[in-house]
Amino acid sequence: MADLDDLREGSNFGLGVTAGQQSFHVKGAENLPWGMKDRLSRIFNPKTGKAVMLAFDHGFIMGLTSGLERIDLNILPLIEYADCIMCTRGILLSSIPTTTNKPICLRSDAGASILTELNDNVLIDIEDAIRMNVSAMAVMLAIGDEAHEAKTVANLYKAVDKASRYNIPVMGVTAVGKQMARDARYFGLASRICAENGANIVKTYYCDGFEKVVAACPVPVVIAGGKKLPELEALDLCYKAIGDGAAGVDMGRNVFQSENPVAMIQAVHAVVHDGLTPQQGFEMFQDLSK
Ligand code: 5RP
Repeated sequence: MADLDDLREGSNFGLGVTAGQQSFHVKGAENLPWGMKDRLSRIFNPKTGKAVMLAFDHGFIMGLTSGLERIDLNILPLIEYADCIMCTRGILLSSIPTTTNKPICLRSDAGASILTELNDNVLIDIEDAIRMNVSAMAVMLAIGDEAHEAKTVANLYKAVDKASRYNIPVMGVTAVGKQMARDARYFGLASRICAENGANIVKTYYCDGFEKVVAACPVPVVIAGGKKLPELEALDLCYKAIGDGAAGVDMGRNVFQSENPVAMIQAVHAVVHDGLTPQQGFEMFQDLSK
């Protein structure tokens, strides 16, 4: 039982001190088996340790989303610039050519729409994930929402149990429901719970104190982009997240809703992998947009 009258906030995050056992380029993966490491290396570039994941799973919960009306027209031209694609089974099978040859982070849970927002009770059959040769499975975790919390923990747990049998990494997606705080306390708690339950990657949002969220999470953290921002601000977000220790981005709307998505994903890639500043990335975006 938690001693609720004695919750002491962590304060010693060892900021600036590299995590131990880091001969493998993916945090916390040192002791994993070959198949896991191979899949993680398909997502996280072994040279930089970073990843640009292109997320276009929004339709499974939001229905029609601007920029995702036509996967063939909107998304296919972007895929060559992504390190990994994140989508649902339905979109993968119907709209992504088998020759794409990019690692797939499969959206593996369901059970809700934009009206209730949080998924908690459906998990894809592991055999189907294997048939699609996925490199990771993404499952939501909604801490702090009474109606969903225990069910999403169970869903994540089940996903890890099943996926680890076949050396498939799981990405825990920290949910932000309507009532949930968007701060380091919430994202830190949710990220750590994902990792403690066996997630090999955590996706969360950038926030003040993000470096503590990353430091206290024993596996790589990638950020979602969130709502569409002006391009320079979105590149700034990527830059700050990487500077604070993120292992990459899993970005959707700030890429596919950009004025020039093909230019934007290349600029994001350059900020994440090549250390371009936001301004340099923005100039790259502008040059590619001419
Ligand atoms: C929602 C998701 C989305 O894929 C994620 O939010 C990334 O998209 P965006 O950058 O548009 O926020 O996992 O559960």
